[in-house]
Amino acid sequence: MKAEPTTQELRKLVADFRPGRGHVMPALHRIQDTYGYITRKAIEVVARQLNTTPALVYGTVSFYDDFRTEPPPETEIKWCSGPACHMRGGDRIRRALEAELNMPMGGHSDDHRYGLHLGQCNGTCHEAPQVWVNEKVVGNLSVVDAIHLARRVKGSE
Ligand code: FES
Repeated sequence: MKAEPTTQELRKLVADFRPGRGHVMPALHRIQDTYGYITRKAIEVVARQLNTTPALVYGTVSFYDDFRTEPPPETEIKWCSGPACHMRGGDRIRRALEAELNMPMGGHSDDHRYGLHLGQCNGTCHEAPQVWVNEKVVGNLSVVDAIHLARRVKGSE
């Protein structure tokens, strides 16, 4: 797991963004892509850089499922919530994962080894229904595949 970024590192990372609401999302994405999550310090740095309020930046972070405020688990399963995956039985995959991992969408294990999160279509719909395990596509899933995948991630298979 990466160490929490310092204020100085965060300032440097978003230094090229200019004030304006249109830059809140790109600045937050850059931070999350670099550090894996958005810290309280990051919210303050983005607000200052874009000349807006921490409340507005925090509102953006909490509104979008894409952003997280705590470090990602070691192994993250992202479940695709897009239309092609939905049409091809994605909801059954979700239920199987939640049941086998014994956690709701958005949850993670107590030891932070694995977690389950919502993902958006990434354009690889020909492999629907799918999940991403640490960003790697695992597609054409059946319910049985999803159960085995969850067991492997948990270390019980
Ligand atoms: S809808 Fe799932 S990858 Fe496109």
